[in-house]
Amino acid sequence: MPNNIETLPGASIPSIRNEFSDLLHLDGNHIVNQVAYRWLRHGIREAKIFEMFISQNPHVLPEGIQYQDLLEGVKYHDIAKPELTRIHGRDFWSIPGDLTDEEWKIMQLHPVIGAAMLNQYYEENPNRMSRIIISMTLNHHEHYDGLGYPNRKKGTQIPWEARLLTIVDNFTAGIESRPYSGREKIPLVMAYLNEHANFFDPNYLRVFIDFVKSGALADMPWIKQ
Ligand SMILES: [Fe+2]
Ligand SMILES: [Fe+2]
Repeated sequence: MPNNIETLPGASIPSIRNEFSDLLHLDGNHIVNQVAYRWLRHGIREAKIFEMFISQNPHVLPEGIQYQDLLEGVKYHDIAKPELTRIHGRDFWSIPGDLTDEEWKIMQLHPVIGAAMLNQYYEENPNRMSRIIISMTLNHHEHYDGLGYPNRKKGTQIPWEARLLTIVDNFTAGIESRPYSGREKIPLVMAYLNEHANFFDPNYLRVFIDFVKSGALADMPWIKQ
């Protein structure tokens, strides 16, 4: 089963390096580069799923919104993970088992730091990205029940773009291979989403579940069916 980035459309390693170094100062540190590579791969896969989801369900977007504007947000929402790794010299996302309280606090900073990084990039390059990706990044770990982070926003206090992203993010995380967990098959990941339905906007979740059930992801070689 091919499970590497070269099999993804538009995702060759050199292009990822170029794209990412534009936003992030990779410093040649092996751990940082590894984390950067892993999380951009995560973002690219997630953007592919997101794109398919929206193209089959354009009605979930508010009028006048182009889904292409959202794809960058899907791709870059975890951009602060390599940066936190660089600052602390540790890859918090490879630690098996539970994080300590302090590690957990640092890890939970990634939406805020990511939004700040993207905001700075936006200020310097206002024509190169849409501001909506800053909101997607800041809010992608907020939960519909108000128990997410960083700001414990609840229900529709969470911007719609982040409510959509968090569903696709949790799905993608489940089907990916990560250092601390293997890849899961689609039914197990869907069971996880249903068990944690309190995290998600119920209307968007319903549409996403129908999308997956329709078999739309059946041809993706890196997804275990
Ligand atoms: Fe995240
Ligand atoms: Fe993510």
